[in-house]
Amino acid sequence: MGAHIEVAGLTMAYDDVVVVDDVSFQIAPGEFFGLIGPNGAGKTTTLEMVEGLRRPLSGTVTIDGIDPASRDPKLLRRIGVQLQTSAFFERLTAREQLQSFAALYDAPRAAVGAMLELAGLEDKAGTQTSDLSGGQRQRLSIACALVHDPDVVFLDEPTASLDPQARRNLWDVLRSLNDDGRTVILTTHHMDEAQALCDRVAIIDGGKILQLDSPAALIRGLNAPVRISLAPGTLALEEARGLSGVISADLENDALIVATRDPVSVLTALAGLGALEGLSVAGASLEDVFLELTGREYRA
Ligand SMILES: Nc1ncnc2c1ncn2[C@@H]1O[C@H](COP(=O)(O)OP(=O)(O)O)[C@@H](O)[C@H]1O
Ligand SMILES: [Mg+2]
Repeated sequence: MGAHIEVAGLTMAYDDVVVVDDVSFQIAPGEFFGLIGPNGAGKTTTLEMVEGLRRPLSGTVTIDGIDPASRDPKLLRRIGVQLQTSAFFERLTAREQLQSFAALYDAPRAAVGAMLELAGLEDKAGTQTSDLSGGQRQRLSIACALVHDPDVVFLDEPTASLDPQARRNLWDVLRSLNDDGRTVILTTHHMDEAQALCDRVAIIDGGKILQLDSPAALIRGLNAPVRISLAPGTLALEEARGLSGVISADLENDALIVATRDPVSVLTALAGLGALEGLSVAGASLEDVFLELTGREYRA
């Protein structure tokens, strides 16, 4: 299961404006890979070139050695591309929609029931697509991309415009796809989503890859201070500032925030003082990595 993907020197321009600039990466079989960056970064253009749906100006893509732009049927059967939900036939029910895709790909009809289950849409099987909620339509679009049991799945901003609950539900679906051994390539402008799901991420901005690694390694590379949060009044500010290893201590949003690169010493000292009320500890996030890389706030 899964496929090896090799992308080398991909470049794309519209009207002489370069929007994807010499992008290279490799994806291992079974990997969950994220292309992340703000709107307009070049994620969709890159993804479409990797899917073989858009011809690059220069550069090459192979999936298990085959160029996806060749539309080789052997390869196409192994690839699932999530369609925009606007591509549905509105008058069809969820089940009929899936049956159409199954027929298109010559997939067994039994796959339709399995996909309804995977997408959590069994009780909506008879509902017209136009009457599904945004989250349900999104899950149906992913189910349609999977009905032929591909081992590589491409998803372009699958959770855009979903509410937090629907997003979490969809994360579970995506994790289960990957747990089954599929290679998953996702684009997102939600840094938290990439951090929660991806084995590795390429951070893209202005058409260029700025960094490529696991979210954990990127965050470690920042060597950013850890933020220790306590209930206000747990400790006097001056006392907190005087502890060895403390960079700063301030009241923020009804909490005492102590920043340090040596959380072990500071927490030990706080424990010795019996000053741990309301304790929570937060490290840096992928958003901080983005900020550090580009020198500006993340603009989703
Ligand atoms: N068909 C097109 N014609 C002209 N410009 C385009 C076209 N598609 C995308 N672009 C431009 O290329 C850049 C990257 O777009 P895109 O790949 O869609 O970014 P993302 O998916 O990261 O939001 C944007 O500036 C966008 O306006
Ligand atoms: Mg896009």
